[in-house]
Amino acid sequence: MKILVYGAGVQGTYLAHVLVRGGHDVTVLARGKRAEELEEKGLVIRHYLQRKTTVDPVGVIRTLETEDAYDLIFVMMKYSDFQAVLPILADNVSRHIMLVGNNMDAYAMQAYLKEHGQSPKQVAFGFQTTAGTRKNGQVICIRGGHGQMVIGSLDGVIPFRSLLDQAFTHTKYKLTDEKQMDAWLKNHMVLVVPMNMVILLHGFQMKKVARDTKRIRQFVAAMGEGFRVLESLGYPLTPAAQASWILRHPRLMSGALKLFFKLPVSGLIDGTDVELKALNEAFGEWRAQSDVPTPNWDVLEKQWLAGS
Ligand SMILES: NC(=O)c1ccc[n+]([C@@H]2O[C@H](COP(=O)([O-])OP(=O)(O)OC[C@H]3O[C@@H](n4cnc5c(N)ncnc54)[C@H](OP(=O)(O)O)[C@@H]3O)[C@@H](O)[C@H]2O)c1
Repeated sequence: MKILVYGAGVQGTYLAHVLVRGGHDVTVLARGKRAEELEEKGLVIRHYLQRKTTVDPVGVIRTLETEDAYDLIFVMMKYSDFQAVLPILADNVSRHIMLVGNNMDAYAMQAYLKEHGQSPKQVAFGFQTTAGTRKNGQVICIRGGHGQMVIGSLDGVIPFRSLLDQAFTHTKYKLTDEKQMDAWLKNHMVLVVPMNMVILLHGFQMKKVARDTKRIRQFVAAMGEGFRVLESLGYPLTPAAQASWILRHPRLMSGALKLFFKLPVSGLIDGTDVELKALNEAFGEWRAQSDVPTPNWDVLEKQWLAGS
């Protein structure tokens, strides 16, 4: 199968590695220095927990031309970067597009691709549950198992679901179907944004985050507020068990996170102010529509914006 991974950062590099090992004809679209690194060295990944490094040669392109046809395109970038590539994807002949990563605008992105697509587009969404960072031309990847992607469509079943199965047939990568993908992405944002505000406030110095018990408790409380806002707007809490646990056991959650931030592995998680701002702005719009108070979220937001 001919597959394009559009965006060759932490998540895209790991996915491309899985697909290359799965026997496919994989191309990555990268730009600038990253494209040069990939051409010179290939996909270099340090699998942190597995204590091994893999290197896989891969095809690299810098632009996607209209006639470049792929069976599947995975778009793997920050939420704040998606908008810039939608017109390029719409102009391209390929039909099956997975937008993978944090996404607060799934309906609008799908509508754009369907309305402006020069070929009929089928769009689905995903979230790869690996993490990591980039250092000296290599990706440091943190994963349990062999990698996993939560996948879903906004309209029921993913129309090209069998293609996805084919893509991962000869791999141990897991696809997890989510019926309420838009709600799942919004629930995920509720977890990520308050926590990352504190991480960025401390400049990614996780030991400092671990010592900041007050703010850890605040961001766990902010997660709870976020879930209540979503509920008030009619979004289901999904995964329900995760939301319910955080709402019922904020102290335990704070304790677990405090321990996590003490571990060296926590220092390998990546994030940017730009994506965080875009995600938080989306949440700001929902807060404005809801009458649920969010005092903890408000305080953290104020402190983070003042510090950034
Ligand atoms: N990393 C983590 O720990 C982690 C964990 C969980 C979830 N996520 C989520 O996963 C998503 C992807 O994150 P990531 O960590 O993989 O991001 P990343 O490392 O920044 O990778 C994104 C890649 O897309 C490229 N890109 C951006 N705009 C582009 C454009 N217009 N044309 C071509 N390439 C473009 C970037 O290019 P450059 O190389 O030039 O920057 C970069 O290589 C995000 O939503 C993130 O929040 C990440």
